[in-house]
Amino acid sequence: MQVKRAGILGIGASVPDKVLTNFDLEKMVDTSDEWIRTRTGIRERRIAGENESFSTFAIEASRLALEEAGISPSQLDLIICATVTPDRPLPSSSCYVQHILGAEKAAAFDLTAGCSGFIFALTVARQFIANGEYKHILIAGGEVLSRVTDWTDRATCVLFADGAGAVVLGEVEEPAGILATSIHNQGEYAEFLTIPAGGSELPTSQETVSKRLHFVKMMGNELFKAAIRYMSKVSEEVLLKASVKPEEVDIFIPHQANQRITNAVAERISVSREKIYSNIDRIGNTSSGSIPIALHELKEKGRLPKGTLILMSAFGAGVSWGSALVRM
Ligand code: ACO
Repeated sequence: MQVKRAGILGIGASVPDKVLTNFDLEKMVDTSDEWIRTRTGIRERRIAGENESFSTFAIEASRLALEEAGISPSQLDLIICATVTPDRPLPSSSCYVQHILGAEKAAAFDLTAGCSGFIFALTVARQFIANGEYKHILIAGGEVLSRVTDWTDRATCVLFADGAGAVVLGEVEEPAGILATSIHNQGEYAEFLTIPAGGSELPTSQETVSKRLHFVKMMGNELFKAAIRYMSKVSEEVLLKASVKPEEVDIFIPHQANQRITNAVAERISVSREKIYSNIDRIGNTSSGSIPIALHELKEKGRLPKGTLILMSAFGAGVSWGSALVRM
């Protein structure tokens, strides 16, 4: 069987209009703009309105990605939505995206891998292109984390944000395309980042709600160390897989969790600071949305000409981590 090369045909993104600044947060919890900026790099983030949900942003981002790719929704074979905040627990949000877009022949499923969701989806999708099963695949990664954030917990509420990005994948000619991907998990660290209630282990009840167990609980310091360790390791792994040297990378797009994590990873993998793309100051941590939103911004700025070599790396709940090396 001849293996086909999967690549990115189109990119889109959508974030809410509403901006929540660090100064707004100062009025909500015991924090300061200075603390948030120096510890995380975040100045402001986007927060969804009352009538907006994951699919609101996923659909808008997907339309833009389809438009750039020149692909109609009816040509899509598969839709993967990477999210931990679907519109509802059931059915998958990808079904809403499929219906609203009018992608009648596309199979559709959601994929959950915390903040690494976009890289996991890219890894899955490229297999279907490579083996010739599917021609066009839409990935929409994003979150409405504001709905699972405890707005009385200063340790978490300053980090999270809402928004989505999308890419359309299809067959491309070498040297363009996805050169290498790698994904990993370490389930023993599941408690580092979790929403304890609302699943089959601890269904929602008045008690779980009054104990605020339906919100994200986080062990920030543990995540911080693990993110640096694993994002560095997996970035080196994909570079090695593709026989690419760090200095050949044009742009490094890390999951936007914390500017200090980003800087530490870039230093460890010997990618120079000016190659890092960071929008965490304006966008915050949108989990599975962060890498495709960054891709979209780069495209809009004209920074993704043909041939650009992009290294993407993510880390998140699970814990999960992954990396992808992509040439435009
Ligand atoms: N404002 C003011 N003070 C705060 C705040 C806040 N928002 N949050 C915590 N503090 C206090 C703490 O209570 C602590 O006070 P103490 O010394 O009196 O006990 C002090 O600040 C230092 O707290 P640390 O947790 O040690 O601060 P740190 O420098 O580690 O930064 C942070 C915390 C930003 C959460 C960091 O650990 C981090 O970014 N971790 C990764 C978390 C993350 O990204 N999670 C998202 C999902 S996983 C991912 O996306 C990679």
